[in-house]
Amino acid sequence: MEFKYILVTPQYAEEIALIQINRPKELNALSLEVMGEIRDAIKTLDNDKSVKAIILTGNEKAFAAGADIKQMQGKGAIDMLAIDQFTTWDTIKRTKKPLIAAVSGFALGGGCELVMICDMIIASETAKFGQPEINLAIMPGAGGTQRLTRAVGKALAMEMVLAGRFITAHEALQAGLINKVVPVELYLEEAVILAKQITRFSTVAVQLAKESVNQAFNSTLDEGLAFERKNFYMCYASEDQKEGVQAFVDKRPAKFIGK
Ligand code: CAA
Repeated sequence: MEFKYILVTPQYAEEIALIQINRPKELNALSLEVMGEIRDAIKTLDNDKSVKAIILTGNEKAFAAGADIKQMQGKGAIDMLAIDQFTTWDTIKRTKKPLIAAVSGFALGGGCELVMICDMIIASETAKFGQPEINLAIMPGAGGTQRLTRAVGKALAMEMVLAGRFITAHEALQAGLINKVVPVELYLEEAVILAKQITRFSTVAVQLAKESVNQAFNSTLDEGLAFERKNFYMCYASEDQKEGVQAFVDKRPAKFIGK
């Protein structure tokens, strides 16, 4: 896959694809073109049967320093409405496969929001998360007020969104925003280790489980439990479920086929 602003390696590790945002001079600012390429790459990888998990990363200095501020110059509300950038984000949100963010350096504004669309986040000790849109007299528009608040709670979310405070990787871990902090030379490797752990399992069960966890953010408890129950029953329709149970009984490793 050839793109201008991202590098895509469909088999970075066995059954694991890597998307690397590659606009280093602008600290990986997420222009409309960058976001369009990420969307297209993720859609292709999501439909590629040889890929079971996708890692999204930047470089050591920046995962992404937010939406491209220079593209905002001279724009009014109706221009922004017509550009409709958030449909791209909605498409990324619908990715069926596990999406892991490997973050080093700045993850700010849209960068932090993109990280929060991912299912799991591995960060280097140098990572900094923030929603500094308030400096521009705007506010987060790609989920920053909603996903951040659900992840870290109201007090810290308010401080980050209203006061523009950046948090360190260790603070992000403590607040429940991310999964793990590792030394900078290990963050990508650690993301691969996590992805490998998931790719061992049935892709059917992984997809249904991901969908169910995400449903927790969109429903009441009873609605979420009903959704979970249907997906739980759905697992029993797969050959993988028969294999998983049989392998346990036979005391042998299971061989899952994703059906
Ligand atoms: N958009 C466009 N260009 C950006 C950028 C952005 N978000 N962030 C950095 N750059 C560019 C800079 O303009 C600079 O380019 P030049 O060399 O051509 O001047 C280059 O990247 C390097 O940046 P700095 O010189 O500023 O680097 P620094 O190390 O001194 O500071 C920083 C780093 C603190 C991240 C600083 O660049 C910064 O504050 N960036 C903006 C962060 C921000 O406000 N993000 C939110 C954007 S709005 C948004 O994301 C809305 C949304 O919800 C979708």
